[in-house]
Amino acid sequence: METRHNFGSKIGAVLASAGSAVGLGNVWRFPTEVGNNGGAAFIFVYLLCIAVIGIPVMMSEFLIGRHTHANTITAFSKLAPGKWWRIEGIAGVFVAFMILSYYIIVSGWTLFYLVKSVGGQLMADKDYNLVFNDFVSNPWQPVLAGIVFMGLTHFIIARGVQSGIEKFSKLMMPMLLLIIGILVVCSFSMPGSSDGMRFLLKPDFSKLTANVLLSAVGQAFYSLSLAMGCLCTYASYFRQDTNLPKTAAGVSIIDTLVAILSGFIIFPAVFSVEGVSVDAGPGLVFITLPSVFNIAFHHIPLLGYFFSGFFYLLLLLAALTSAMSLHESVTAYLLEAFRISRRKASTIVSVSCMTLGVACSLSFGVWSHLTLFGLNIFELFDFTASKIILPIGGIIICIFTGWYLDRKLVESELTNNGTLRFRLFRLWYFLIRFVAPFAIAAVFLQELLA
Ligand code: PHE
Repeated sequence: METRHNFGSKIGAVLASAGSAVGLGNVWRFPTEVGNNGGAAFIFVYLLCIAVIGIPVMMSEFLIGRHTHANTITAFSKLAPGKWWRIEGIAGVFVAFMILSYYIIVSGWTLFYLVKSVGGQLMADKDYNLVFNDFVSNPWQPVLAGIVFMGLTHFIIARGVQSGIEKFSKLMMPMLLLIIGILVVCSFSMPGSSDGMRFLLKPDFSKLTANVLLSAVGQAFYSLSLAMGCLCTYASYFRQDTNLPKTAAGVSIIDTLVAILSGFIIFPAVFSVEGVSVDAGPGLVFITLPSVFNIAFHHIPLLGYFFSGFFYLLLLLAALTSAMSLHESVTAYLLEAFRISRRKASTIVSVSCMTLGVACSLSFGVWSHLTLFGLNIFELFDFTASKIILPIGGIIICIFTGWYLDRKLVESELTNNGTLRFRLFRLWYFLIRFVAPFAIAAVFLQELLA
């Protein structure tokens, strides 16, 4: 069996975890949710959810992973031998596998749009609805894009923890932050962008409904990559002197900042073009934005190429660092449980996920008639993973750390054996026992009954 490596540096640990958290959820899903839920008021509630639920649950995952230094399934078995808790580990790894299967397909779309914008075709096309639908329903183009994307992810994971995950996170995360900075400046300088800023900054609390609240909890969970074994696996590579509460806070701050800045890239641009709606839904970045680029940069197409190229590169990098963590969650398990080489384990994951990915991709075209409960294969995967297994997993993690594990063990892990001070321990303990599980349960029931 191969030796287990740790992340070589604390900054590597933070950037890798932030890479997992920052993904399509920030750049694509967050602005969509903001648009659908009334702007600033949603952001306000979202921040609250990150602080009260997101950070505490992330700390729980960190402490489980770092304490056991093992993949997610083994981690639960080690902490609760012979108990049913192991099932939570299995669910985490399974859900990572499922999500990776369709995540690579959407990531492949970003790759296609990047190539198209760099090639200048994106600015030349006019009917973006048609472009998008033609592409996703094509039987082989999106599959090919997905395979290329999976190849990139595989290449990094097969290289291991330090020379793969850590090295590439340290390279890609700063690039991603730089691109965001450039795009925010570009977007602000568009005429009419102030309406977009107002939408993002001026809360209208009359828009706050129970539904908005629940969407915010759901978004926080998804965006922080919680309950999928990803952060638990990464934390198993943290060094003994890593400050867990600080790392969780740092990762959450980076993730939230990227989400809000993505809003600042998208909305001023969208508002600067008349007749484009802010609540366009999932098509926002693939259908609405290209037409925004086209209209806004009508007179200076070169700037349009630049803006759209950077934007899709940003999406691609964000997706890649997230896909890496999903892949690693499964690879680490295979590698350690079956004592096979990293190369073999990662190949098994890549090939089997890609096979399922093909089915997900075809469900937008030739297999669109294959449905269960009215959902096609892609939607079925997404629904089962993010609406059912994830929330239940989240609740179980809270109960596990808040009620099952010994309080002393938990406290000593969060304070590195008493060598660090963690002043907010009592508050954290209260949140993880009483607040987070109920909040997640509320979202779960609401989504299920809706
Ligand atoms: N957090 C990622 C995002 O915002 C999604 C993700 C979920 C990534 C789970 C890894 C694991 O897109």
